[in-house]
Amino acid sequence: MQRSEPASAAPIPAIHHKHGLAAGEGARPDRADWTIDQGWRRYTPAEHAVWKTLFERQTQLLPGRACDAFVDGMKKLPIGADRIPDFLELSEVLDERTGWQVVAVPGLVPDDVFFEHLAHRRFPAGNFIRKPQELDYLGEPDVFHDVFGHVPMLMNPAIADYIQAYGEGGLRAQKLGVLDKLARVYWYTVEFGLIQQSDGLRIYGAGIASSRTESVFSLQDASPNRIGFDLERVMRTRYRIDDFQESYFVIDSLAQLLALAPIDFGPFAECLADAPTFQPADVLVTDRVLTRGTGAYHLARRTGAQHMNKLT
Ligand SMILES: [Fe+2]
Repeated sequence: MQRSEPASAAPIPAIHHKHGLAAGEGARPDRADWTIDQGWRRYTPAEHAVWKTLFERQTQLLPGRACDAFVDGMKKLPIGADRIPDFLELSEVLDERTGWQVVAVPGLVPDDVFFEHLAHRRFPAGNFIRKPQELDYLGEPDVFHDVFGHVPMLMNPAIADYIQAYGEGGLRAQKLGVLDKLARVYWYTVEFGLIQQSDGLRIYGAGIASSRTESVFSLQDASPNRIGFDLERVMRTRYRIDDFQESYFVIDSLAQLLALAPIDFGPFAECLADAPTFQPADVLVTDRVLTRGTGAYHLARRTGAQHMNKLT
């Protein structure tokens, strides 16, 4: 998960140790591209056990919720319950399938470094795993989010090309000063995207697929809006980084994303520089609305009331 849009994140628990960019200049790796060795042999039994807990509960939740491409990618990758995956083993399979690799980084990396990796089909994955007492804490992307959530989708050729194009667009958007608009596209597709399959609505976004609570909320809760994806609309829509999304954008097929790959995202975003911005909960008359959300969850959060469907 790469976060470029400033927002009020939930307070970080005192126990949480920051990683990567968030840990300050002293934590910057020696290599200019911020990659490090995964250090697989240094994982402790307790860390493998956290992976197992997360893996097993998500694997139980995702049948009938994750999209076919996610399920198919997961099946073909060397990812299992018993140990944190080895990035070299993952890369071998991924490279053969779509030409992507997984490279280890200490946590979040600067935007230009992130885009440079994506543009060269390298997915930067945090090598650390959350603590047992932080199972649902998503303050920083760890190995579970990055590998379990993202890597299965990178086995799909359409997603593989789309994310590379996004990386190239990111480098241009940064020069044009329109990164906020581009970040929203990544957020509402790669991280929090839903897809309409013939057998129902499914998850393809890694932020949802790696979250126990949002896997259910995004698909089944009455609160959020579910709106047909439109590139310009998404580029103009702010998002939440500290809670469930108030709106999810739904694609009809992964080919829809592939069709976006030839678009030069940077200049496209620049065209919208002066266009008004929408709030996360907004529904427009021009939207193709699949579900008009009640907004009850976020209203309850704002007023401190208990949301009936809130999952803990
Ligand atoms: Fe992510």
